[in-house]
Amino acid sequence: MIKYIDEIPLKGQRVLMRTDFNTPLDDSGNIADDNRIKAALPSIRYAIDAGARLILCSHLGRPKGQRIEKWSLRPVARGLEEMINQKVPLAPDCIGDEVEKRVSSMSEGEVHLLENLRYHQGETKNEPGFAKALAKLADVYINDAFAVSHRAHASVTGVPGIVKNCGAGFLIKNELLYFKKALEEPVRPLVAILGGAKIAGKLEAINNILNRVDKLIVGGAMANTFLAAQGVDIGKSITEKDLTDTAKALIDKASNKGIKFYLPVDCIIAESLEKDAVTRIVPIQEIPDDWMALDIGPATVNLFSEVLYNAKTIVWNGPMGVFEFKPFSRGTMALAHAVGSSQALSIVGGGDTDLAIHKAGEVENISYMSTGGGAFLCLLEGKKLPGITALEGCRKK
Ligand code: 3PG
Repeated sequence: MIKYIDEIPLKGQRVLMRTDFNTPLDDSGNIADDNRIKAALPSIRYAIDAGARLILCSHLGRPKGQRIEKWSLRPVARGLEEMINQKVPLAPDCIGDEVEKRVSSMSEGEVHLLENLRYHQGETKNEPGFAKALAKLADVYINDAFAVSHRAHASVTGVPGIVKNCGAGFLIKNELLYFKKALEEPVRPLVAILGGAKIAGKLEAINNILNRVDKLIVGGAMANTFLAAQGVDIGKSITEKDLTDTAKALIDKASNKGIKFYLPVDCIIAESLEKDAVTRIVPIQEIPDDWMALDIGPATVNLFSEVLYNAKTIVWNGPMGVFEFKPFSRGTMALAHAVGSSQALSIVGGGDTDLAIHKAGEVENISYMSTGGGAFLCLLEGKKLPGITALEGCRKK
């Protein structure tokens, strides 16, 4: 059990809130997508209203312990100021005398943002000294950074081991709640859709999901390895040859458990992956040797949509094709519309899938869009997030 932000007295307290402001930036260094900042607003607003002296911290990119200007959180501070309509000064660093001085002069309801945590190697290396320096700034620690809670980094697992009063924010509360509704106590039938390029990174997730779902749909390039495992000749489509036996074992596991397992029946093919490639639609059994599958075909869209028809719960991670390229985007877009128009409780996670749902204009029709990529996958694998485990330890202090 963990405590949540609304169970902890915040008035007058120095509240160090770990957020995930790892937002995409455009070429001019402006925020290209502010969803992650917006997702943190409920906890931020709550802390301000409760009279906290709110110190926000986050990573941005992977500067690997170097102070690289491009990864400064300045654009985030500016964006946040507009959203909450109050000043959000950016501290010159995230630890040290100057930061401590600033924090000590903060008034109730004030907000400061610390500079990128990953300007220090101590963050990703989870160095106790770095965690201690951060913890020095706080009377209360709140983790609302779901998307980085699968990392055992200093600000995620180190600080809650030091600060006595810790809890999770509303974003994490929602993420865990929806995940529970979807995979732990689902209304059935529960259908999972998995896609993306590779099985390798998702093996544990597929294995765990097969213990929970009623139906599993697999699309994207990862479907190729399953098709190859069934003896289908898939031309020069991407496959993980070393994983065909594993893929076969997963198909057998599904069959032994009575889980319906769906793979593409047709696909969009091209000779190469190019934006203006000449494409053809073929049954999966008819992919020529020097062509490759880059999207699911229309018959597969119909099949997958029928599979979703009676679903009461849908979990989706990973696109059905190379949807960034128009000729190969139809399958993913069509599936986004099918999930969006379903009455089922729908949970979507992962950066690409998130982007696809936005592109398809279906955000409003999805029950919950997870902010996590790796963290969402970690939950799909049936693992506990280190950031959450660290908060559980806090309750025992
Ligand atoms: C993410 O974008 O998935 C999180 O912010 C974690 O970032 P990382 O993969 O660089 O740790």
